Amino acid sequence: MTTGPLLEDEAALGLLGSLALEPVGVLTEASNLTVLVDLVDADGSATGHQAVYKPVRGERPLADFPTGTLAAREVAAYLVSAAGGWDLVPPTLLREGPLGPGSVQWWVRQTPERLADPSAGLVEVLPPDRLGPGWLGVVSGTGAEGEEVVVAHADDPDLRSMAVLDAVLTNADRKAAHLTRDLAGRLRGFDHGLCLHVDDKLRTVLWGWAGEPLREEDRTALRRLLDALDRPATSTALAELLAPAEVDALVGRTEELLGNGTMPLPPGGRYPLPWPLW
Ligand SMILES: Nc1ncnc2c1ncn2[C@@H]1O[C@H](COP(=O)(O)OP(=O)(O)O)[C@@H](O)[C@H]1O
Ligand SMILES: [Mg+2]
Repeated sequence: MTTGPLLEDEAALGLLGSLALEPVGVLTEASNLTVLVDLVDADGSATGHQAVYKPVRGERPLADFPTGTLAAREVAAYLVSAAGGWDLVPPTLLREGPLGPGSVQWWVRQTPERLADPSAGLVEVLPPDRLGPGWLGVVSGTGAEGEEVVVAHADDPDLRSMAVLDAVLTNADRKAAHLTRDLAGRLRGFDHGLCLHVDDKLRTVLWGWAGEPLREEDRTALRRLLDALDRPATSTALAELLAPAEVDALVGRTEELLGNGTMPLPPGGRYPLPWPLW
């Protein structure tokens, strides 16, 4: 949909909880059952708003995450993003739907160009000589014609905030396709089912600031998150979504990041990138 004004996250969250879900398609590139739904009025009429519905029963069992917990992790990631003031994850909640309970996330409207290539300008495959100012190389490889290429991301302040949020979430799946800008130019991230494990699982394309000092705004967001985790509104909500040890690990990662004062380094003993990268 490209009609209607952009809504504030609070208003979007209200509509996600109250409107009916009408499936209109399945997102085929998705690894679990991911359904695009229209948000419709009680009488079935379209509102022009859409959402991504991930029913718990459509989750594929995984080796490293407990089965049936991905939808709750999607919602927990939204709460963490909101509590820290990052506001990088679109509004997401748990509710009943046509295929049973699941996560429902506000559909981020994008320009047709971005829909075709959501992470354009954020993550690119470049020849090494185009890796000028404004780009940070992450990994080198060989292109289709045998030429040397670099996977790089923009040296962008919003992306840098996303990298801090991913460290807090220990996001195991920050692919390029899980990043976009909405119609207002705001950075948004998707697909947070593989987040908030007790162990360090960070797999991301956003390693460009590894080892660099946190910015003042990063420290402010991390402190804001720690304060929120101390208050019942956030801690009660997270306790319903995550295991107690996972909430403790979240607090631990946030404190550790603040204590170190630097962006995390890629781990030594395991693969640090999502697969595939897009
Ligand atoms: N809330 C959203 N708004 C707009 N596009 C989205 C949203 N969520 C997902 N997408 C798009 O749909 C694709 C598949 O969804 P994703 O959440 O990654 O599913 P899966 O968990 O099965 O991989 C994403 O890569 C992204 O391009
Ligand atoms: Mg995905």
